[in-house]
Amino acid sequence: MITIKTQNEIDKMRKAGLIVRDVLNIMGDNIKVGITTKELDKIAYEHIISCGAYPSFFGYRGYPASICVSIDDEVVHGIPSPKRILEEGQIVSIDVGAYINGYHADAARTFEVGQVSAQNKKLIKVTEQSFFEGLKVLKDGVRLGDLSSAIQNYVEKAGFSVVRALVGHGIGKQIHEDPSVPNFGTAGKGVRLAQNMTIAIEPMVNMGGHEVEFCPDGWTVKTKDGLPSAHYENTVVITSDGAEILTL
Ligand code: MF3
Ligand code: CO
Repeated sequence: MITIKTQNEIDKMRKAGLIVRDVLNIMGDNIKVGITTKELDKIAYEHIISCGAYPSFFGYRGYPASICVSIDDEVVHGIPSPKRILEEGQIVSIDVGAYINGYHADAARTFEVGQVSAQNKKLIKVTEQSFFEGLKVLKDGVRLGDLSSAIQNYVEKAGFSVVRALVGHGIGKQIHEDPSVPNFGTAGKGVRLAQNMTIAIEPMVNMGGHEVEFCPDGWTVKTKDGLPSAHYENTVVITSDGAEILTL
């Protein structure tokens, strides 16, 4: 069931969204050669708690951290570790959620560590822009497939592929609500989206093929071909004539 939020609920999600935005900005300030992914997790945790919020991912289905940190060929859900040290040239996706006053917000960015290759820079840019291509078509009454296909078409024209095995989602009282929000699909198909629905749109874009594999740690998702992947996500509320981003 897709829930329609009240203005009061949206206000609470806005508050969660600003915390998520701030955490991502802090992550960007701290990402550099030599820092461990565990240290990044601790910084994120402490900021979220200092805001009176709770890290949405911590304990979700047993997930052991506040952020997901996914490096290079890792697509999503990389678990922070004191053994994982960031290196020059890597691309690092950070995904974080915050929960406050009963509501969640969820967002992700992909960052560069030092100097990265031109292809990796393009991958990050295309992934981010694909979110905005989706956003352009979003408003009350459009179908889910209109959003999904706008993202997919943009990514594929750029020569990359969208991950199929993982999707975006509705969000609110729960971190994952209906509907599923795929980054691939057919315009004119799917459920109709309406004003005051809140969804997390999160393109995961691979430089090579779309296939992924799930690692033995039970969480980390990697590309099958070992080529890099990028992630970009925002929580948005659909409005009569567009959408408002709550995590930017
Ligand atoms: N943003 C992620 C998603 O929507 C949430 C990560 S799930 C967790 O898929 F378990 F890692 F928290
Ligand atoms: Co999400």
